[in-house]
Amino acid sequence: MKKTILLLTTFTFSLLAFCQGNTVKQEVSKFEGLANTPPMGWNSWNTFETNIDEKLVKETADIMVASGMKSAGYTYIVLDDGWMTKERDSNGDLVPDPVKFPSGMKALVEYVHSKGLKFGLYNCAGTKTCAGYPGTRGYEYQDARFYANLNIDFLKYDWCNTEGINAKEAYATMSNALKKAGKPIVFSLCEWGDNQPWNWGKPIGNLWRISGDINPCFDCENNHGTWSSWGFMKIIEMRKDIRKFSGPDHWNDFDMMEVGNGMTFEEDKAHFAMWSMMASPLIAGNDFRKMSKETLSILTNKELIAVNQDKLGIQGFKYLDDDQLEVWVKPLSDGNWAITFLNRSEALKKVVFDWSKHIIKDTDFNLEFNTTAIVFKINDLWKNKAVGTTNTIFKSELASHDVITLKLTKVK
Ligand code: GLA
Repeated sequence: MKKTILLLTTFTFSLLAFCQGNTVKQEVSKFEGLANTPPMGWNSWNTFETNIDEKLVKETADIMVASGMKSAGYTYIVLDDGWMTKERDSNGDLVPDPVKFPSGMKALVEYVHSKGLKFGLYNCAGTKTCAGYPGTRGYEYQDARFYANLNIDFLKYDWCNTEGINAKEAYATMSNALKKAGKPIVFSLCEWGDNQPWNWGKPIGNLWRISGDINPCFDCENNHGTWSSWGFMKIIEMRKDIRKFSGPDHWNDFDMMEVGNGMTFEEDKAHFAMWSMMASPLIAGNDFRKMSKETLSILTNKELIAVNQDKLGIQGFKYLDDDQLEVWVKPLSDGNWAITFLNRSEALKKVVFDWSKHIIKDTDFNLEFNTTAIVFKINDLWKNKAVGTTNTIFKSELASHDVITLKLTKVK
């Protein structure tokens, strides 16, 4: 009898705690080690929005392989919003749109896997996705089983129609659901930075968006009324100070790229260089079927990709802003460094950089770049060419919105 009363009390207490919400600590541990370097791939949203189908996915996968993107490191093909029908089925399961995907999602996943690539899907923590398809709220464990059965590898999880729910709890619940379903799936938080996911996302997900949506422009703000989309430099500027929260398997995600989506060649270069410098996931967002040679050359620049994928996984920082000629710096493994000169102005700029006058301190990670102590050889990663050492002053010219990215390697 005593035992029953005790049990009853415990039960009531737990229930009470549960009903009051947020008083029960939710233990969470994501699938570890799925993104030790920033994930690379393609996502449908920036170009196609909800106009997606299996032909597009297959052609994109084929080109990912044939164009050399796969060998450059791009792996994930992610279908964003719009892959479902507007209603769940009578069992409450999500339904891949049979008109867009007549062969079924399972067959499409298998097709992408057969190319040696990985497959991702999108959903939302709210009651509906941003485009009005069924959201996951209340179906977390059921949807996680659905994804595991499809054998997908990546889930982007958005934040529309969440009606005041607690972000950390919502993402933790889905993370736990994925873990329970058993199939290792990269968990990509897309919460736009509203609730500072960098403060709590590390045990929950492998990457987290840090801003509202990107726009294919250098520095613009595109105001949609209740929200804005942003030029890529705006996103960088907005979140340059949260670098210490990013690292292997827990990345600040600066959003899918807009390379090849209408900016100038110089701006596309700057965009790609900055995503590499910031150790952001490199998720292309252009139409591969119409990709120019220039776009492909930017997206597959192996040296820039190596900067992005450097195993130290440190997000770069702005060292200097000299009248809109900016100098961004990223510590690399083995004591090496990447440096990007970025011309933010509308005019041509002269770059004159005397290495000996710049002892650069990374106070977040306690590192120092000091050419008076160590000599570095310099490679220009866009020209793919050796350009001397830090014993001589670096001089060049830089067109408006263009970049020079250098890798500085310690001379032994
Ligand atoms: C939000 C996300 C975008 C995209 C759309 C889909 O805006 O931030 O990246 O997924 O939803 O509706």
